[in-house]
Parts: sequence; C-alpha cells; structure tokens
Amino acid sequence: MADSGPTLSNLSMESRSFPPSEEFAAQANATEEWYARGDDDREGFWAEQAERLHWHQKWDQVLDWQPPFAKWFVGGKLNVAYNCVDRHVDEGHGDQVAFHWEGEPGDTRTITYADLKSEVSKAANALTELGVQAGDRVAIQLPMIPEAVFSMLACARLGAMHSVVFGGFSPGALKARIEDAECKLLITSDGQYRRGKPAPMKENTDEAVAQTPTIEHVLVVKRTETDVPWTEGRDVWWHDIVDRQSGEHEAQPFDAEHPLFILYTSGTTGKPKGILHTSGGYLTQAAYTHHVVFDHKPGESVYWCTADIGWVTGHSYIVYGPLANRATSVMYEGTPNTPHEGRHWEIVQKYGVSIYYTAPTLIRTFMKWGKEIPEKYDLSSLRVLGSVGEPINPEAWMWYRENVGRDNCPIVDTWWQTETGAIMIAPLPGVTATKPGSAMRALPGISAEVVTEEAQPVGPGGGGYLVLDKPWPSMLRGIWGDEERFRDTYWSRFADQGYYFAGDGAKYDDDGAIWLLGRVDDVMNVSGHRISTTEVESALVSHPTVAEAAVVGASDETTGQGIVAFVILRGNAAKDGGEDAIKALRDHVAKEIGPIAKPRQIMVVEELPKTRSGKIMRRLLRDVAENREVGDVTTLADSTVMDLISSGLKEGK
Ligand code: WTA
Repeated sequence: MADSGPTLSNLSMESRSFPPSEEFAAQANATEEWYARGDDDREGFWAEQAERLHWHQKWDQVLDWQPPFAKWFVGGKLNVAYNCVDRHVDEGHGDQVAFHWEGEPGDTRTITYADLKSEVSKAANALTELGVQAGDRVAIQLPMIPEAVFSMLACARLGAMHSVVFGGFSPGALKARIEDAECKLLITSDGQYRRGKPAPMKENTDEAVAQTPTIEHVLVVKRTETDVPWTEGRDVWWHDIVDRQSGEHEAQPFDAEHPLFILYTSGTTGKPKGILHTSGGYLTQAAYTHHVVFDHKPGESVYWCTADIGWVTGHSYIVYGPLANRATSVMYEGTPNTPHEGRHWEIVQKYGVSIYYTAPTLIRTFMKWGKEIPEKYDLSSLRVLGSVGEPINPEAWMWYRENVGRDNCPIVDTWWQTETGAIMIAPLPGVTATKPGSAMRALPGISAEVVTEEAQPVGPGGGGYLVLDKPWPSMLRGIWGDEERFRDTYWSRFADQGYYFAGDGAKYDDDGAIWLLGRVDDVMNVSGHRISTTEVESALVSHPTVAEAAVVGASDETTGQGIVAFVILRGNAAKDGGEDAIKALRDHVAKEIGPIAKPRQIMVVEELPKTRSGKIMRRLLRDVAENREVGDVTTLADSTVMDLISSGLKEGK
C-alpha cells in the first residue's frame, strides 16, 4: 500500500439534503422497493434486468461465481449490436434519432436508428472484407465523430474486440496498446479538430503502426481534409471501402461471455492494464443503470454524456447503455469553449437536452467562467444532471444544481470505474434525497462496503477502503493476457473475504451515505483521467537529462489533482536546470504519454525522500507540492533530505 491514504479530515461534512420532488418521484423509473428486491434475490433481480435485452437464446444459469472469476447469464446468446441498433428498427423506431451529432466547426449530422443500422452494417461488411473475424482485436483512435460509434458497433456485431485509444494519446501509448492486444486493424482519421483548428492524427498513428507488425490495415476516416502520408496496400480510406458495402448484414449471436472490448487504464505500475469486458452482463448493467440512474424515457428524453469515447464513460454511457435503451443522444466533437464558453448551453437549448452527464472538472471550469454564461440560455429542458470521474466537491455540486439545474434537477453523482464497467454507487433520481458531494448508496442489485485494513466494516461515521463484496454483471473479466496481475491488483488485498478492492478511500456519514475520498494507491486523477505516478516517472527518466524522478498528485482547484514532479538532473543539466530545461521535460512527457500527462509543475531537487528500503515517500513530496508543513520524516533514511528540498525550493534553485 502506498503511503498516500485518504485524509478523512479533508472532507467537511455536509448537512444539506435535497429530497426528490413529489412530481419527479411519481414518474421515476425506479422505486425504493428495488433495493430490497436486489438484496433479497440478487440473481433474480439481475435476471429481470437482463430481460431488457433481446436474447437469441436464453441463459441456463444467472451466475457462475468462482472467485475471482464470474460468468453471468451462462448459456445465453445475444448480439450486442443487434440489441443496440437493429432491434429498435425492427420494433418500428427506425425514424427515431439515435444521435444529434455536432461537429466542432458547426457542421451537424442527424443519425436515426435506421441510418445507424445501415452504417453499422456497412462498416461490419467492410471490416469483414479487411479480414476481421470474431475474436480479433481492432484498435480505434478517432475523434468524437459518428464513425467512432459505427466502428465500435461494427466490431461488436462481428464479435471482434475493440480497443479504443483516447485521441490525445501519443504514438508511443498507442503502440503499447496495439502491441499488448496484438490488434489486426487500426481505425483512425486524417486529423481532428482541436479548439477550432485541425490537428494531425494519421501522422501520429503512422508513427505507432511503423512499430506494430500485427496491424494489417489502417482504415482512415476523412474528417479534416488534412494531407496525410499514405502506405499503399496497408491504408484504406473509410469512404472507399465502407460506402460501397451493402447496408444489410445479419448479426450472429454470441455467447453471453464472448469478449466485447478491451480498454486500457492506468495502474500502479508504468504498464497500462487492458481491462476486459464481455457481452451479456456488461450490456445488462449498462442498460439497467442508464435507465434508473438517469431516469431515461425512450422516445422522450434527450440525453447528453459529454465524455470522450476513449474513456469507459464514453463506452458505457454514449454507446452501449443509451443505445440498448433506445436513447436519443447528443454527441459533440469539440471542446467546451469553442468557439465560445456557452457552447454546451447553446447545445442544450438547441436540442432540448433533458439529461446531462459530465465531470466535476468541467463543472469547476464552468464556475470559473462565471454563472452569467449559462444564464443566457434556456436550460428549462433539463431534468437530471449527472457527475462522474472524481469526487465532486460540495461547492461545485451546489453551483451545478443552482446554475445549470436551476434548483429543479436531481443531481446523480455516479461512482464507478473502467473495471466495474457500469455505475455502482449513485442516488436514484425521484427516490434518493441527495447530499452535495455524496454518491450516496450502492444501486439496487449492487453491494459495496467500507472496511478497515482488516476487512472489518467501519459502520456509520467511519472511514476506510471501498470494496465490492458481491459480484456484479458488468465486472471486468480480467486483465488482457495477465491473470496474475488481475488477481494481485483487485483480489489479493482482501483475498480471505473474496472482496474486490477498488483502490478508493471512502467514508460513511452518520446516516450511512457513502462519500468517496479519492485513490489510495499511486494513481492520480487529473480532470477525471487516471494517470499513474509511475507512468509519468518512467517518461521523465527516459529523458537524457533526468537522473531520477518522483511524481505526486497535488490537489488542484480545477482539475481535481495536478501532476507535480520532482526531478534530479544529471551532471551538466543540473547546473542549468532553468526554465528551458523544465519546458523540455514537460514537452517530453506530453510526447511520451500525451498532453493530459504533462506535469503542472516540475521542481528540480538534489535528493528525493526515501525510506530505508528505498521507497520514495510521496506523502512528504505532496506536502511540499501543496505548500503544507512537511509531515513526519522519521522513517526517512536521511531525515535532512526534506529540509534540503524545502530550502532549495525557497531559494528558487
Ligand atoms: C474515480 C471512470 C469519486 C475513482 C468512470 C475511481 C470517482 C476512478 C467517481 C475510476 C465519483 C470515478 N466520485 N470518485 N463519482 N467516479 N471516480 O476508470 O477514484 O476512469 O476509482 O472510470 O475515478 O476512473 P475510471
């Protein structure tokens, strides 16, 4: 365990509580009674939820649990893409809009379920022509354009696994992910719009693919009309191959446990983990949670999740959950301040968005821009507001409620992870009285506990580690190619009890509501993105001027945490460790991992604080980074090191 445990004192307890309105409660999708149903007969409850889907063949057994390996809906067969697309067309909803897509430069596309069926079928036919078969892995690095959704669903339709890589990741990060999963095909675009300007994409992906022999073809969507390098025989334009395909494709059923996708996330070591999800259980929980947590009404609600499809939130709450529930969604390509800071509210007003799901970091950015901005727009269509990705501070929660929700919308703070696949802890709108900053309670059918180091429940008012003590349908089925790491990371800490260790600290208030306190391992959360300290340290030491590096997440008003690095420079570099050297290091990290991993601050030091066993004491560095009195130094091998660091920094060395 890292020395970076949660500080319970950093949470001022909130006493405000907002009960649901009678009007909302009267029409809510879920009721209080669901909790008891979930507890009394968990498997029966989930079997009922699975009935939301179309099964080509029904399961024989709801759950086969051999810790830590779960199989859900054993013997059942379904096609995930059929469930998300064709089924709705077959049931007479072909004309319903699936996506109102807004491009960053202002171009738009309206995609009905009938359009989606034809686009996904064409893409599936094209992928087949390129040799993709069930069980193959397909890497996708695309901006937020409709083809990203078509690609994911085309893979699902064929039983091939997609591995979506966030568009902001570097060629090196893409290469590592392609290599780990041995992907056969890469789907990318010529460029992507970023803050009003086209930025290159294919140039970067080419750099990655030059080093990944498993890639047979690169399928390229034209988005920005940017000139691109081209490798004949390997590269194929999307419009050349997809557009000429038939819009008919028969979806084959796959086993409930057939792999659906791999999504990489940061762990406590430098190597990202390929989190594996399968079909039946994943889709069941994605659909169920989208239905109850957002109180989604098919054909009525207009739903907008602002995440990027490169993250799990985009997978479960832009693609799979909403489409399984026949949602009409908004999908937006760009940044929230392009071309102006009211862009999101303009979109809410334009499409009459009723459910809006975003991250605390963005809410805090909106706060900074000022409440006059949302004030200018008609936001009366909003009914439910969601938050995800990091703990939401009470101030941001209240601002969201007052200035976006106009005191009229329940806020659902949703706790979950790439590994959990879908929402686990959240209030139910119309049912739960919410408290600003609390994710409240595990959903019906889900069980969570806060326990001590010794696995004892802490009880009301206590704090400790968040665990999931019962299996759930959308749980990860493993880490791609690394069973040992899967057991070690999640299941070894509370092995005797068979609990899943989430890596988060949490506490109960006196009423038993759950408050998340952030990570207890060496994973940082920057703007809702998980980045490991080791990953950034490895990037830093790969630079020729760096001898040693230690990285911590320091609290940051806007991004939740900011990356602060302490580096020891080598010989000559150490002598002129000025601003240029620091800029070069920040750029180097951006190049190695991606701009999201750029340290907010880099401090050049002569020593790093280490224990006698050589472990860096990040807790002390965090004290420095957050301008606090430095804590207990007695376990340091050399207790004068911290004085050296603090005084060196004061002198501005
Ligand atoms: C954090 C994102 C507090 C947490 C869906 C978790 C949260 C990690 C919340 C997973 C929340 C996510 N309140 N913390 N509502 N939601 N987290 O895999 O530390 O990108 O372990 O999944 O984000 O991040 P991931």
